[in-house]
Amino acid sequence: RKRIRTHHLREMKERGEKFAMLTAYEQYAAQTFDEAGIEVLLVGDSASNNVYGNETSLPVTVDELLPLTRAVSRSAPHALVVGDLPFGSYQSSPEQAYATAVRFLKEGGAHCVKLEGGREMVPQIELLTRGGIPVMAHIGFTPQSEHALGGYRVQGRGEAAQRVLDDAKAVEAAGAFAVVMEMVPGDVAAQVTRELSIPTIGIGAGNGCDGQVLVWQDAFGLRTGRMAKFVRQYADLHGVLLEAARAYADDVRAGTFPGPEHTF
Ligand code: KIV
Ligand code: NA
Repeated sequence: RKRIRTHHLREMKERGEKFAMLTAYEQYAAQTFDEAGIEVLLVGDSASNNVYGNETSLPVTVDELLPLTRAVSRSAPHALVVGDLPFGSYQSSPEQAYATAVRFLKEGGAHCVKLEGGREMVPQIELLTRGGIPVMAHIGFTPQSEHALGGYRVQGRGEAAQRVLDDAKAVEAAGAFAVVMEMVPGDVAAQVTRELSIPTIGIGAGNGCDGQVLVWQDAFGLRTGRMAKFVRQYADLHGVLLEAARAYADDVRAGTFPGPEHTF
């Protein structure tokens, strides 16, 4: 297998083939997902709440995400590795966005970056693209704008559908190579997907998109608690780890581990 590049995703869209994307934040998840043929690995700012223990994605910093990005890019020989620009690291100007994105490629080894926003991010997307950094846009519900959007809610219902379509067309025209759509009605996301020539990637946006993305701890059941409607749980890793940790502790307390076969 060859390395997945941005043009491969576009060619898959043209052939009507769908592709899969997952988050990854460290070596073994990245290696395993790459081995499974997941085309795109996102070192999401969701590391804020899935690695660093925060409640939202807002607190995570560039300096916290770069080592995770490095770990994933070192560990994934085939996948396209996307660095996610965190809150506050790109919004204030195209120059700020470029300086931050360069760090994700130079220090993190990412192949491209993702940023949140539609029409308002056109200057950032244009400068990055001109400067040799492929950009994945992210529209619909954008978690970094949670407080501005008034909480977690579907974007693009009714008359607001036109805004999602306008955002999608604007980021495509600015040079984005793909666009994530989060919590957008399925029919709206399907229409956007038909009208764009760049691939769309859905999360809570129905199956009319060209690709899908999920946070891996949600999809594979490492995280417990309330799950968004758009998550399908493919495994119960929390249960597996909990049982293993309890079995180990039981053996240590009972004096049955280590056994003679583990002893020099
Ligand atoms: O940070 C993240 O995990 C994301 C995806 C879920 C799209 O941005
Ligand atoms: Na993100």
